[in-house]
Amino acid sequence: MSDALADVTADLRSDTLTRPTQAMREAMASAPVGDDVYGEDPTVLALQRQVADLLGHEDALFTPTGSMANQLGVRLHVAPGQELVTDDLAHVLRAEMGAAAVLSGISARSYPTTGGLLDVDAAMALAVTEGGAYQVGTACVVVENTHNFGGGTIQPLEAMQDLQERAHARGMAVHLDGARLWNAHVATGTPLADYGACADTVSVCLSKGLGAPVGSLLVGSSDRMQQARVWRKRFGGGMRQVGILAAAGRYALEHQLDRLAEDHARCQQVAQAVAAVNPEAVDPQAVHSNILVLRVAPAGWSAADFIEAAGERGVLGYVTGPEHVRFVWHLDVDDAQTDHASAVLTELLASRA
Ligand SMILES: Cc1ncc(COP(=O)(O)O)c(C=O)c1O
Repeated sequence: MSDALADVTADLRSDTLTRPTQAMREAMASAPVGDDVYGEDPTVLALQRQVADLLGHEDALFTPTGSMANQLGVRLHVAPGQELVTDDLAHVLRAEMGAAAVLSGISARSYPTTGGLLDVDAAMALAVTEGGAYQVGTACVVVENTHNFGGGTIQPLEAMQDLQERAHARGMAVHLDGARLWNAHVATGTPLADYGACADTVSVCLSKGLGAPVGSLLVGSSDRMQQARVWRKRFGGGMRQVGILAAAGRYALEHQLDRLAEDHARCQQVAQAVAAVNPEAVDPQAVHSNILVLRVAPAGWSAADFIEAAGERGVLGYVTGPEHVRFVWHLDVDDAQTDHASAVLTELLASRA
């Protein structure tokens, strides 16, 4: 740990910060491996089978990152010159460095969202499926569940089913960015396969709240996963003896999935404490999982100043917009750290409310 971080009490910048536990490291060290470009890594094959089955799809493909899994998903559905439609806070639009445009010639349009909530009517109104030789055709709608920049928002299953039905009726595919679908599953009890049934392809990440150091998967039909395998290699993501990484994911699914509920409870605890001193900063009912987005402007803060002040008091967060900051709970944050974060955030927001 660097000197700058030595005094940190609660590092809530992201749930990607988790470090592999000793038991996870041991599972990695002893994993059987082979060359995965040849399709011969038994641990990768087992993980792919496990995740495809969990999500109710035919097959899955291991990828180094969630961004690559998303980019493979949209690449399969959208030809160069076509577009995808999503919401304006979507990770695939805001945080993947324009990859859909750069790598696949895909353009994108988005509808405004509150808290990242899926708006099927808005998506359908934007989509153009009979544009002929004049308008860009929409080939795919992307939905994110849970929604990162929206504040860990869980999409209602009914809305996702509605999206799938209406998108398919117009010849469009649905890609689900399920980097944190595990959180939605644990928070609602909805089976992963019910979410999986709402999309043609789904990306899931092992490297967020589940606590693996690396790894994501794309799931879909066998045909699509064969195509995705070709595109993964083309994108530079063909990996060799990566059973040691897949083993971390298998360990995480077995031992660190249910505990996501603890992250949700701690996040909710702080949301309620903040709302009690400053109801304009957050509505606890809109906090669904492990991500707390606070609106700090009504209390007289800029997001950057707020994050600096919290950081000076040992609570690290992230600026998500001029008025908004984000704090994320994960495996490496316990009750004492949560209590400290609660004290600091309520103090800062009460002081100028
Ligand atoms: C919703 C969502 N999708 C995709 C990703 C991309 O994951 P990665 O950082 O592994 O590329 C993230 C990363 O935080 C995310 O929050």
